[in-house]
Amino acid sequence: MRIVLLGGPGAGKGTQAKLLQDHFKIPQISTGEMLRQAVQNGAVLGKQAKEFMDRGELVPDSVILDLVDGRLSANDSGRGFLLDGFPRTVAQAEAFETMLADRNLVLDGAVSLRVPTATLVARLSGRRTCRRCGTMYHVRFNPSKKDGVCDRCGGDLYQRDDDREETIKARMEVYERQSAPVHDHFRAQGLLREVDGTGSAEEVFRKVLRQLQPTH
Ligand code: AP5
Repeated sequence: MRIVLLGGPGAGKGTQAKLLQDHFKIPQISTGEMLRQAVQNGAVLGKQAKEFMDRGELVPDSVILDLVDGRLSANDSGRGFLLDGFPRTVAQAEAFETMLADRNLVLDGAVSLRVPTATLVARLSGRRTCRRCGTMYHVRFNPSKKDGVCDRCGGDLYQRDDDREETIKARMEVYERQSAPVHDHFRAQGLLREVDGTGSAEEVFRKVLRQLQPTH
């Protein structure tokens, strides 16, 4: 199974990707996560990317395409993969098609999570992530048992730098301008699967699975 997850900032791509990863036993490839790792490791790429991320802007296509191309060549992608946060521009979508064609692979679907803007903002402003294991929480919708501490591993929970109010606004604008057209790209190929991304994470997951069932 090869799937792309689309949707605005906070639409639930990462949350659904983790559930799909467990269900289909395929790796989640999150460009946002890869970039945050590079920032944390102090890599040159991370230093360059952080400036864009902190402003809520997209990291240049050339950087992202190199990252994804390298990651798709890893051994664990043979049975399929789940791309979360990529492609985010029409140029990335076109280059992605070439990467797949070069590997004789086809995409099974592009799942688009549709969530109203007010819900997106509420989700982002309350998100907390474990510094150690990456488990995600929300101060209202999915709080940890003990404030600031991960239920799973006891690690510290932190708020992402780009989840501050001003940056959230910039990310929303960038999404509308640069990433929304990617939907039309996949729709034209008959690959777009639109899913109402409201409701609990489990409810959304069931809707996503229904959309991924073969139609014949
Ligand atoms: P990235 O990390 O991809 O951020 P994003 O697309 O803005 O998406 P988020 O991770 O913020 O949200 P999500 O949709 O995954 O939602 P989540 O499941 O976490 O990218 C960050 C930056 O990196 C970009 O701004 C850009 O600079 C750069 N970048 C990355 N990829 C790039 C690319 N391809 N090209 C160029 N630049 C790139 O959920 C959010 C919160 O809501 C959580 O707290 C969660 O618990 C909660 N939640 C989720 N689902 C539900 C639900 N159903 N009900 C209630 N709460 C829910």
